Amino acid sequence: MAKKMINEPDTLSDPIVEHPGYEETESLVGLWGHPLHAMSVAFPVALTFCAFGADLFYWWSGELFWARAAIWAAGTAFLLGLLAGATGTAELLLVPGIRIRAPAWTHFVIAVLLLSLLGTNWGYRLQGYEAAVLPYGIVLSGFNVLVVMATGWHGGKLVFDHRLGTSKGKG
Ligand code: HEM
Repeated sequence: MAKKMINEPDTLSDPIVEHPGYEETESLVGLWGHPLHAMSVAFPVALTFCAFGADLFYWWSGELFWARAAIWAAGTAFLLGLLAGATGTAELLLVPGIRIRAPAWTHFVIAVLLLSLLGTNWGYRLQGYEAAVLPYGIVLSGFNVLVVMATGWHGGKLVFDHRLGTSKGKG
């Protein structure tokens, strides 16, 4: 049998789990209990896919309309992504149980990478939205779809696996 070392505690403790705010994970940034972050992320996610779709249609048809649709989708994905990022960051900084969990910070890092890529995709097109599509615009849009999927999947894990931002129930 292993001998007990001098000064070794009887039970090991995890300072993260024992932090007083560990259980405080309920959303603080919302409207009547509905988290603003969850409400706002749908727009940048969908628009990121739209930008890629519009680029594919431009490649296939050569129609100027699709290049214009792509710059609008890329720009609105970026601007609404900033808004979603602001609500997520407020949640991260204000809620102790979210702030203390490492996966919340992982999501933050992936999301900031996404926002910088969304901004690049839009900014690149501002110089000439038709010429920008092939080849670099469409490559960037395709890559953004992969990164937005990773961001959304990880955000979903925060809610469904770690129960962050969810209500404890009032009943
Ligand atoms: C940039 C800073 C961001 C931070 C700090 C952040 C933080 C969080 C946090 C704490 C949650 C848990 C739920 C909540 O507390 O509301 C969450 C969920 C989520 N996040 Fe973010 N987020 C950021 C940006 C983004 C972006 C840009 C997207 C996608 C465009 C995104 C997609 C999601 C999704 C899909 C969920 C799950 C929502 C649900 O199913 O209810 N996040 N995020």
